[in-house]
Amino acid sequence: MTDSPVLIAPSILAANFARLGEEVRDVTEAGADWIHLDVMDGHFVPNISFGPAVIQSLRPHTEAVFDCHLMIAPADPYLEAFAKAGCDYITVHAEAGPHLHRSLQTIRALGKKAGVSLNPATPLSAIEQVIGDVDLILIMSVNPGFGGQKFIHSQVDKIAQTRALIGERPIRLEVDGGVTVETAPLCVAAGADVLVAGSAVFKGEGVDAYRETVSALRRAAARGQI
Ligand code: DX5
Ligand code: ZN
Repeated sequence: MTDSPVLIAPSILAANFARLGEEVRDVTEAGADWIHLDVMDGHFVPNISFGPAVIQSLRPHTEAVFDCHLMIAPADPYLEAFAKAGCDYITVHAEAGPHLHRSLQTIRALGKKAGVSLNPATPLSAIEQVIGDVDLILIMSVNPGFGGQKFIHSQVDKIAQTRALIGERPIRLEVDGGVTVETAPLCVAAGADVLVAGSAVFKGEGVDAYRETVSALRRAAARGQI
């Protein structure tokens, strides 16, 4: 469990792509803490989403933290572009390249917070050697590539192990995939302090609808802190 307030990070993968600027504004007004940006290349994951140009065009629409989840391989050649586009956190996958330490150092050298993500099949030991080089660890609770998938419950244990590994370090612990009002308390009880949610947030359309879904997730997260 974590004492710090749990942050809600809606993934715009589930938003209406024809009106992304308004969607980002609406979900911010509805109380979202961060905006989660899922970048997919059709190679590391079997889907294609959007790149730095779209992120740059969204930047003026909110002051919320841009939390960029790169599901691309290689990632290194594109880190600078995502930094320039206005991302605050840039997360790479441990499985996406042979030189994870270099990727994380590059992100920090660009003045951004460095994140590392693990697929469900990847053990936590894959990042033990870089724990001093990250600001965020993202545990995938679905196989990355698509929104709307079912939460993989075996990852709750991994979240708890990650919280233990983090110890007193100032590292955010984020969970992504299948996060709903049912699964959010489990993630928070295990130690997560950032919850990504796509389909659970972007139900309906507009500020009022999103305020309800974001608040419901926040209440569910609070249940995990008791
Ligand atoms: C999956 C993405 C997630 C996804 C979450 O590859 O990384 O951020 O959009 O969507 P939901 O919340 O619908 O599982
Ligand atoms: Zn994501």
